[in-house]
Amino acid sequence: MATLYESFQIGDLVVPNRIVMAPLTRSRANEQCEPTDLAVTYYTQRATAGLIISEASQISQQGQGYICTPGIYTEGQVKGWRRVTDAVHAAGGRMCLQLWHVGRISHTHFQPHQAPPVAPSAIRAQAKVFIPSGFEDCSMPRALETAEIAELVKSYAQAAQNAKQAGFDMIELHGANGYLIDQFLRDQSNQRTDAFGGSIENRMRFPLQVVDALCQVYPSHRVGIRLSPAATVHDADDSDPLTLFSELVRQLGQRRLGYLHLVEGQTLGPRDWRPAVDLGRLKKIFRASGGLSVIANNGYDRQMAERAVEDGSADMIAFGVPFIANPDLVARLQHGYPLNQADSSTFYKGGAKGYTDYPFYAA
Ligand SMILES: Cc1cc2nc3c(=O)[nH]c(=O)nc-3n(C[C@H](O)[C@H](O)[C@H](O)COP(=O)(O)O)c2cc1C
Repeated sequence: MATLYESFQIGDLVVPNRIVMAPLTRSRANEQCEPTDLAVTYYTQRATAGLIISEASQISQQGQGYICTPGIYTEGQVKGWRRVTDAVHAAGGRMCLQLWHVGRISHTHFQPHQAPPVAPSAIRAQAKVFIPSGFEDCSMPRALETAEIAELVKSYAQAAQNAKQAGFDMIELHGANGYLIDQFLRDQSNQRTDAFGGSIENRMRFPLQVVDALCQVYPSHRVGIRLSPAATVHDADDSDPLTLFSELVRQLGQRRLGYLHLVEGQTLGPRDWRPAVDLGRLKKIFRASGGLSVIANNGYDRQMAERAVEDGSADMIAFGVPFIANPDLVARLQHGYPLNQADSSTFYKGGAKGYTDYPFYAA
């Protein structure tokens, strides 16, 4: 029987424990969307995680939807990330980059020439984004032209190349939480009539083209994907998510991806949200069709995480908020030490406070 504190192998990558740092946007990049010295400290403090997944990192300016999020499309951003991965590696850790394009969850403020954000269809999301003046409604997007989609796939591939140059051990495609990949998958946001909309096969076309492009840059076992099949955050909805995601995870498994990272239930909300979306079934299909491993996330505590690894329902567990407040989360879980509580007022923006100043456990 496996335990949370034992090593695991994702393809050829050995992780010393099954505790993963979930991707966490902290909005502390500089004006050029580059990770700073503080990010180097923050991630290095958490290097005892089996695997660190970075905060979401936009693949282009068009892919940005919130202030001060780091990109992976300029030389300065690649250099900034390289400093992070070098420091994490020197501290004995491993790091994966989460590749992000927000699609319609954006605002003209962020877009080149203040143009409308892009989306599968010109349907405005009932959601808000954070711009310098505060929370604002998402802007009305425009539908991507068919010919633009191939260019977008190339932007993802270029971002993966940049991730490699920046020294990341793995890459994770952000396919969760209502952003661009999720927008293409779901029939509420994707009402296209070309080869990228309509049937499930068509709606999966762009996401799978991106996955295939990423697997040309990193070996497939070094590519993971994050999905939130039951979640409805950022106005994500579908008429039949179980059928959609069953087919998708089969396709992903056949590509022998390193992991499927599942947000269980509603992201940051109830785990039993939309129980008809049978997440156990999705994990089984992914593994049975060739997928290497499963990372589970959302609301896990120590006992739940230990049990999930022991009963095999997940290979690894990703912790979000607990990792914000506990740089030494692995030691705290392993030894049963008490956890620091996170201060949500410092989740986004600001400097060291609430970022690099959470204390390590002292007996
Ligand atoms: C401050 C904050 C930032 C987040 N940023 C991201 C992100 O960049 N990418 C992502 O996929 N999920 C993001 N999430 C969701 C977390 O990865 C995770 O799914 C969520 O916190 C639930 O896990 P937990 O109960 O262990 O915290 C974020 C959550 C929080 C609280």
